Amino acid sequence: MKVVGTIAEVREYVGAAKRRGESVGFVPTMGYLHDGHLALIRRARAENDVVVVSIFVNPLQFGPNEDYERYPRDLERDIALAETGGADLVFAPSVSEMYPRPMLTYVNVEKLSEGMCGASRPGHFRGVATVVCKLFNIVTPDRAYFGQKDAQQAAVIKRMVGDLNINVQTVTVGTVREPDGLAMSSRNVYLDAGQRSAALVLSKSLSLARRMIEAGERDAGKVRDAMTRMIQSEPLARLDYIALVDAEDLVPLDRLSGPVLIALAVFIGNTRLIDNILVEVGGCPPTASP
Ligand code: PAJ
Repeated sequence: MKVVGTIAEVREYVGAAKRRGESVGFVPTMGYLHDGHLALIRRARAENDVVVVSIFVNPLQFGPNEDYERYPRDLERDIALAETGGADLVFAPSVSEMYPRPMLTYVNVEKLSEGMCGASRPGHFRGVATVVCKLFNIVTPDRAYFGQKDAQQAAVIKRMVGDLNINVQTVTVGTVREPDGLAMSSRNVYLDAGQRSAALVLSKSLSLARRMIEAGERDAGKVRDAMTRMIQSEPLARLDYIALVDAEDLVPLDRLSGPVLIALAVFIGNTRLIDNILVEVGGCPPTASP
């Protein structure tokens, strides 16, 4: 596995692979890799001749009061993990390599970037879409891999690719969880022992939502209320949002039907965690009266 820091080196490596007729899979990350990232890398490994992993904590997607400075970083460990996942090339650029001058050009995916995480993190998805567009132009992959864990991000990128005719197939990979249900995240290292167990309230509230829907509930408000009560019962948790939206266009639903994305963000102490599930809601609830 090769590790490079410049755009020119990536272009040279990928150019040579393409001249050999090889397909290129790409996994963009901010590093501090865990099994969620590795699932993406392994999937890319299975589906492509060459696998490129980028490791770049992108300042453009962090708000002024967010955790850019303290975001966990460990490049040596990441390089070793990327190699175990089967990566061929790690691209770990500096900020000045990615942003040599002040940016004047941005990619803004309207509507999809505005609700949910976009409402509490203004500018976040503009930063994500812009850096992913730059990375796509640098790596020119055939396929790029994103986690369902960041469902809104995956939707924003898919839409960007469609709207701008970017020649990349995006693949979404299911959320990898700890054995107790907590979605893996680089930010989980911020949690102390008490917060770590409080953080289970995210996946538990999603399981509650799933059970209610399976029992026939179709009123989004009632599901949200029950989830809210569960989160409020956890003293270390502070709810940011709960969204029950159409899984494709992320438009909020009153009545649940079709593919529904149930997503939430919760502060545990100062750490903002997100999680979501996709539920395919059938038309005819089993407990509906005739
Ligand atoms: P990062 O948070 O490092 O995540 C990189 C990729 O790993 C994303 O596609 C994310 O959805 C996926 N991922 C994270 N945790 C996961 C889990 N538990 N299960 C499955 N996939 C998981 O997302 C970013 O970086 C950045 O915004 C980026 C796209 C790299 C742009 O800077």
